[in-house]
Amino acid sequence: MCGIIGCVSDKDCCGALYDGLKRLEYRGYDSAGIAVLGKTLSVCKKKGGVSNLSGFYAAGGTGIGHTRWATHGAPSDANAHPHTSGGFALVHNGIVENYAALKEELEGEGEVFSSETDSEVIVKLIARYFEGDFLGAVARAVGRLEGSYAIAVICEKFPGELVAAKKKSPLVAGEGRGGLFVCSDIPALSGIADYIAKAEDGEFVHIAKGEINFYDRALRPLSKTFFRTQEELRGAAVAGGGYFMRAEIAEIPRALSDTLSSLEDKDFAPCARILRGAKRMFAVACGTAYHSALVFRDTVEREAGIPVVCHTAGEFRYRPALVGPQDVVVAVSQSGETADTLEAAYLARSRGAFVIAVTNIGSSTLAAAADFTLVMRAGAEIAVAATKSYNCQLLCLLYLAAQLVFFKKDRFPDWFSALSSLAEGASAAMDCFSETDRLADCLKKARAIYYLGRGTDLCTAREGALKVKEIACVFAEGYPAGELKHGSLALVEEGFPVICVSTQKNLLKKSENALAEVRSRGGFCVLFSQYREALADSCAQFSCLLPILPEPLMPVVSVIPLQYFAYKMCIERGLDPDKPRNLAKSVTVE
Ligand code: AGP
Repeated sequence: MCGIIGCVSDKDCCGALYDGLKRLEYRGYDSAGIAVLGKTLSVCKKKGGVSNLSGFYAAGGTGIGHTRWATHGAPSDANAHPHTSGGFALVHNGIVENYAALKEELEGEGEVFSSETDSEVIVKLIARYFEGDFLGAVARAVGRLEGSYAIAVICEKFPGELVAAKKKSPLVAGEGRGGLFVCSDIPALSGIADYIAKAEDGEFVHIAKGEINFYDRALRPLSKTFFRTQEELRGAAVAGGGYFMRAEIAEIPRALSDTLSSLEDKDFAPCARILRGAKRMFAVACGTAYHSALVFRDTVEREAGIPVVCHTAGEFRYRPALVGPQDVVVAVSQSGETADTLEAAYLARSRGAFVIAVTNIGSSTLAAAADFTLVMRAGAEIAVAATKSYNCQLLCLLYLAAQLVFFKKDRFPDWFSALSSLAEGASAAMDCFSETDRLADCLKKARAIYYLGRGTDLCTAREGALKVKEIACVFAEGYPAGELKHGSLALVEEGFPVICVSTQKNLLKKSENALAEVRSRGGFCVLFSQYREALADSCAQFSCLLPILPEPLMPVVSVIPLQYFAYKMCIERGLDPDKPRNLAKSVTVE
């Protein structure tokens, strides 16, 4: 998604803005731009990477920057931000849903637009409403907007000042040695801002006279607490060298260990009564996080006997949800800023449900919206493809499931004590990497791959398929092994790759039957299992031995070779795993 940054400093801010945009790159983007206010306003904006701006320099301590992920109008120099009008320059993250009507109105008044974006209407409105009061003009303009926005605005008439506003898209303000900042997210301010405060919907940030001030929608001053940024988010965000995705896979054991320690310190008393009384639960999330929610559903239904309805958050929002006051809704999101997941959490709360958030960012909007929050300690995840956060989400959700079992049955499940072996198990799963290298070499030209699983292994299969689609751009489908012969088998022909994950003893034979069906049609079968006998008895042409852990914990480790396989496939196909085509890390619009 788009990322915005703004800076007011005593020194020239061009370099700080450029570095900030580099740190925002991970969110996903297709063009970038900077505006600096010196004696006049200088703007440089280009289609493509932030590095296209490296030749730009303008003196001045006030500026804004943007990474654009195109929604309205193709990626182009003209559509890139900042947009300017009447001495104002603006960057915007979000979608102005009523932009067509506003544009028509402004064109009727003689305005000429130079881009196809929805964002340009905002700066035109600000310029129209300006009567000497910078903050007032921005407030009046955003009062006309429907949809979502985080904006940062500078004005030629106000050197040393910046106004920002937010609704539904994230915005933080930070104080650091290099100046005063506004930004789309905390990781992007790592290393430059030591103290951060978050803006809430409808609020304004005004940087002037060396101070950051917050105002509510009626422009009454607000008092905000600035908090210190989390150490782990800073460290990881500035780590460099190689690909972030590879580094983040390598970090999984450390991330699991830290997450478990933080869970062990967590006091579940505030939700004990609710969990004890839970008769039905919902789990909502998007993408990879949704796959961890599926594992949660399976685990809770099997171990605690509580039915769990699992929805992608985008669907949950628009279904005639049965959710009500007796329900517990678990919302899972690495970033804690995914628009659909947030709206699902708000909807659940508005209906009286108790919302538990599982997120990597303790200061995120989702954490603030929830009744109870489990924060994983994965550290900053920069690669667009979620890896270590998935393993940590699974750990959090398994831990939560174990608490539910305890509250319902007065005992923890047998596997609870084995959670402490997960970090070691994750390291052991990496022993599969050299075989996985060979597999990627073998399949690098594949046009499509099926991933099969049964029971909880189906969640892992789905996540494996998502990863390879996302970064290696290979069509893949995660499919229930038993369903193959009900349709999808039709596509299997000579050499068609089918990867099967089989970690549940009672389902080994069933998975093997599916592979046999594939093999007899000429398919290329791959099997991942921790059971030697399953590998020995299999018809698979390629197999890989996973580490042994209690079966309910296997999803945390069995996915690791699949994450790595997707990474290797991506490298083999000459693609950049950290910047997948068309995708953004943080999906802050619907
Ligand atoms: C994962 O590899 C994807 N980038 C994507 O599916 C992601 O998991 C999804 O957008 C949800 O993000 P969140 O966990 O930050 O809410």
